[in-house]
Amino acid sequence: MAETSIAVMPAPRARVQAMMEYHPPLGCRDTLRLDFNENTLACSPRVSEVLARISTGHLTRYPERAPVEALVAAHLGVAPEQLALTNGVDEVIHVLFETFLEAGDELLLPVPTYTMYEVYASATDASVVPILAADDLQFPFERLLAAITPRTKIIAIANPNSPSGTVATRAQILEIARRAPHAVLLVDEAYFHFYGETVIDLIGSVPNLMIARTFSKAYGLAGLRLGLLAGPVELMRWVRRVLSPYSVNSLALACLPPALEDTAYLDWYVGEVLAARTEFEAALDAAKLRRWPSRANFILVEIGARHAEFVRLMHSAGVLVRDRSSDPGCDGRVRITIGTREQMRQAASALNEALIALKTASKTEKE
Ligand SMILES: Cc1ncc(COP(=O)(O)O)c(C=O)c1O
Repeated sequence: MAETSIAVMPAPRARVQAMMEYHPPLGCRDTLRLDFNENTLACSPRVSEVLARISTGHLTRYPERAPVEALVAAHLGVAPEQLALTNGVDEVIHVLFETFLEAGDELLLPVPTYTMYEVYASATDASVVPILAADDLQFPFERLLAAITPRTKIIAIANPNSPSGTVATRAQILEIARRAPHAVLLVDEAYFHFYGETVIDLIGSVPNLMIARTFSKAYGLAGLRLGLLAGPVELMRWVRRVLSPYSVNSLALACLPPALEDTAYLDWYVGEVLAARTEFEAALDAAKLRRWPSRANFILVEIGARHAEFVRLMHSAGVLVRDRSSDPGCDGRVRITIGTREQMRQAASALNEALIALKTASKTEKE
């Protein structure tokens, strides 16, 4: 007879035991996707041409990122040693935190902001110091300066920020870098193309400034998982020790050059989104909904107590939007990605219908 034994299972680090699994609300998204700030249409047709020519032989080889890194570096006006391609900005965040954060360190995080900063920080032994924005959701510049201490190791700023769409100015970024020379200042420019302003020209001259960019948003390549980190050579050297040499796969590397070259497509898509944003803002104003002025491809909207029902109603009308109510200071607020003008007209009519349904429901409840 087999002996019964008490199962002894390996235990992860204490910090991992305290973590929650993070599951973004994906699933059944074959409808109008205004929930993840993706490109809502397609990437450049030149990318499809390259994809169609890729042979299975190509897949047998390990991906070689250096030649494509050199190309991207030239495109952005930085030296190849100042840039690393990554598996999306999420890998930038993960690797940067693994490289720099240890017990006793602090990550300064203006909130509300992109969820993955907190997720990856919670896997380290450092602590997160949230800097809550005021009700206008403007960048909490003074509060952030006041929170800098000798323990501050990383300051992460999404610029433009999500879900608010608000920005930190160049002067504010420079002042933060100057006041925290012992900390890495990560400026996440995921939504750069919709904003048009960058601090990438300061790479190398500001010794603690690092910049992240993604190809998931304006370029329409979220499924390929492509991002980058740019920074001074001295800091990039540490990061490269932690970064996997193969985290950017060969399909992504093959698609990146044609995506970069097709500036006409990118300009067209960004122009379309900006025009759609102006039209959609007018629709929100006409519906008397509070909104926050956005410099990105999404708008945060105040729906109020019935936010969950609103999201459900939009969903049943074929429009996915993202409830941000659980973000700090965002109760009752919903984030809506901006797509093309045609898509946003569909979204505006679904929104008006949903508001009528909510009004009718609350009237019936009162009677
Ligand atoms: C501020 C910000 N940074 C990074 C990302 C993720 O970028 P990637 O798809 O390159 O991992 C997002 C996605 O929503 C974001 O909002």
